[in-house]
Amino acid sequence: MIGVAQEGASVSITGLGCQVPERVVRNDELSQYVETSDEWIQERTGIKERRIAAESEALSDVALPAARAALAQAGLEGSDIDLLIVATVTPDMAFPSTGAILADRLGAVDAAAYDLSSGCTGFMYAIAQAYGMLAAGLATRALVVGGDLLSRILDWSDRSTLVLFGDGAGAVVLEATPGGGFLGFELGADGAGGMHLWLPGSGSRIFDDADKHVKMNGREVFKFATRVLVRSAQDVLARCGATIDDVDVYIPHQANVRIIEHATKKLGIPSERVVINVDRYGNTSSGSIPLALADAEADGRLRPGKLVLMTGMGAGLSWGSALIRWTKEAA
Ligand code: ACO
Repeated sequence: MIGVAQEGASVSITGLGCQVPERVVRNDELSQYVETSDEWIQERTGIKERRIAAESEALSDVALPAARAALAQAGLEGSDIDLLIVATVTPDMAFPSTGAILADRLGAVDAAAYDLSSGCTGFMYAIAQAYGMLAAGLATRALVVGGDLLSRILDWSDRSTLVLFGDGAGAVVLEATPGGGFLGFELGADGAGGMHLWLPGSGSRIFDDADKHVKMNGREVFKFATRVLVRSAQDVLARCGATIDDVDVYIPHQANVRIIEHATKKLGIPSERVVINVDRYGNTSSGSIPLALADAEADGRLRPGKLVLMTGMGAGLSWGSALIRWTKEAA
């Protein structure tokens, strides 16, 4: 799916917040659980540490402060929201949705609230969906949360996945603005590659030996990731009549520094325009892009007028890009 913003329907991000669990787990600690080393992890992924949720925490507990911060930045209360989407593959439980749980905790009594599952691409799908509902006049103020506690579904004895992921959440408020905002989206999925990154036994399909942990063919996902990060970005830029030279801030999914560097080089974007925080958080799945947005705002790169390109990719296999003319003043 590819499309540009509707004429006269300017929708932008007016609030931004993020939250990560308190506990920092450095690479050295992981070598207590599996045969690995800080050197291997840093060299192959660029990751130094990640946050891991406490046993008492569920996704909604981590997402709630992020959502509150985003609302506060936008100058809104929970009751002002009429659409709440939570992008996640690790909801508190299958149902009620974490969207409904969060809506209750925020006092968003008039909001349509639900979860959206598309792996690490979930946040990109969710903001496209929220944009569509706002542009069509179905909703007026949306809260979109992206977050995961992937530590809950990892096999802590599998070194090929354990070292890659971390827990965290981010949230954005979307509202109509006088100008600027989202310019276009490109989203896609290739189910034929789905079994390269999957969670067998987590749904209605019965498996003989499912242990309900993430399984990944790292090399295949690596090839897919480098391919779609470049193609999706190029497609959305072309459809919006922009080039990579116009992009001020590039926010790729934070899976692996090597994947990001590969995409950056192929796209031809200078490294100072690229946001990287995978070294501190690992791959936080649906939380990755909003956490990176929050970092880019904190370091002063997100200012009104800047052209921001975001691309997510992950389980599905799926991918999604958005181009936005930033309108929000820094907090
Ligand atoms: N520590 C030490 N050695 C390891 C580890 C580890 N944690 N993991 C694997 N190895 C070993 C392997 O067993 C292998 O050993 P061998 O040569 O004796 O067989 C060797 O290291 C090399 O393994 P490769 O898999 O070839 O390593 P590669 O350079 O491909 O890096 C990695 C692996 C980091 C997983 C890479 O393939 C990757 O980043 N893939 C993409 C993963 C990704 O982005 N996933 C998330 C997608 S988003 C989502 O939706 C969740």
